[in-house]
Amino acid sequence: MIRKQQMTVISQKLIAPNIYELTMEGTLVSSMTMPGQFVHIKVSDSYDPLLRRPISICQIDQEASQFTVVYRAEGKGTMLLAEKEAGNLVDVLGPLGNGFSPDEVPPGGKALLIGGGIGIPPLLQLSRELNEKDVSVTHILGLRTGADVFYEELFKELGETIITTEDGLKGMKGFVTSVKCTDDYDAVYTCGPTPMLKAVMHQYAGKKVFISLEERMGCGIGACFACVCKTPDDGYKKICSDGPVFRAEEVLI
Ligand code: FES
Repeated sequence: MIRKQQMTVISQKLIAPNIYELTMEGTLVSSMTMPGQFVHIKVSDSYDPLLRRPISICQIDQEASQFTVVYRAEGKGTMLLAEKEAGNLVDVLGPLGNGFSPDEVPPGGKALLIGGGIGIPPLLQLSRELNEKDVSVTHILGLRTGADVFYEELFKELGETIITTEDGLKGMKGFVTSVKCTDDYDAVYTCGPTPMLKAVMHQYAGKKVFISLEERMGCGIGACFACVCKTPDDGYKKICSDGPVFRAEEVLI
């Protein structure tokens, strides 16, 4: 169910260069039941910027009625969001979209989670829910530099975690696809920039692969067509409402 609420900022932390972790509290959290969904955040009380910012849900704490998003502050909207402090109110619409289904892997099965950059955070909640189902999880997390690495320890608590960086200052030098995983995984879940998603789809062709697409959005609720992508049968899907998570063969990227 989509709802809108003024949520209270609990904390805002810089966890890597330009990467912020924002935790908010409110009853809206009770509707957040699926990893990989996103919220649409109004970053300013004025009409500038007009559009909300779509940000993936990273962690959900139902007991505390709190949830966390992790985002990169790089444009006007996200820079304004980075100024929010504990106690401030933020207008949040959500949860939106269709996320990752942990049920694609049977209890006792194996899952491979591959994230790149700011596509890593939504995999954390997914990994927790897979662990609760007794699924063995392997993470491959790719970042540009060693300084960009975040949440390494949180992922290590949940399963084998392989870090790749382009500068090689942390983990393996290279890209997420430099890691050769030969285990028989029941599903591969991936989130990150489109070139990385394409490379992952190619590397794990023939497996059950779920991709989460990143796209600029307008309404976030399926009404404006700002986020469409093509499908193999010459149709289209709306990333905000049909996705952002799709079976790899469902969409053309
Ligand atoms: Fe408006 Fe997807 S953002 S239809």
